[in-house]
Amino acid sequence: MKRNILIHPDPRLKKVCAPVSDLSDELRALADDMLETMYDAPGIGLAAPQVGVLDRLIVLDCVKEEGESPRPLVMFNPEIIAASDETSVYEEGCLSIPEQFAEITRPAEVEVEWMDRNGHARREVFTGLWATCVQHEIDHLNGKLFIDYLKPLKRQMITRKMQKLKRERARA
Ligand code: NI
Repeated sequence: MKRNILIHPDPRLKKVCAPVSDLSDELRALADDMLETMYDAPGIGLAAPQVGVLDRLIVLDCVKEEGESPRPLVMFNPEIIAASDETSVYEEGCLSIPEQFAEITRPAEVEVEWMDRNGHARREVFTGLWATCVQHEIDHLNGKLFIDYLKPLKRQMITRKMQKLKRERARA
């Protein structure tokens, strides 16, 4: 089932989310819903607070080539355990900040630990777009958005645009 994606500014997007202790059918269903919502948007990552659930859960799939098989990843309690000194710059966007993009610098490579949908501990090194995406999504679990890396003036400009968009959508 597709879920409604919250648009910035929303207090739920600024919260530190709680760790997941027990995997339930409800949480697995939420992960499936989040993947469906992400693919439908379309996007390459989605964090639980973006659908109004303040649990440490993210989903991502950065396979973009036509014809390549999808690689949906579900991560409960994801944690960055190592990050490279080397950085990379990507133009980032966010499903909670539609139509707005900005170049963000982040570590080029990160090692991430998480619990998969079967409750198994997993660990993997991510590079390229995957590295940027997983860091962007984990930021969401700490109430941080990509625009928080921008200068205040630019951030305020984007926030005002989003307030206007929300007013327009409310009227529609
Ligand atoms: Ni985002």
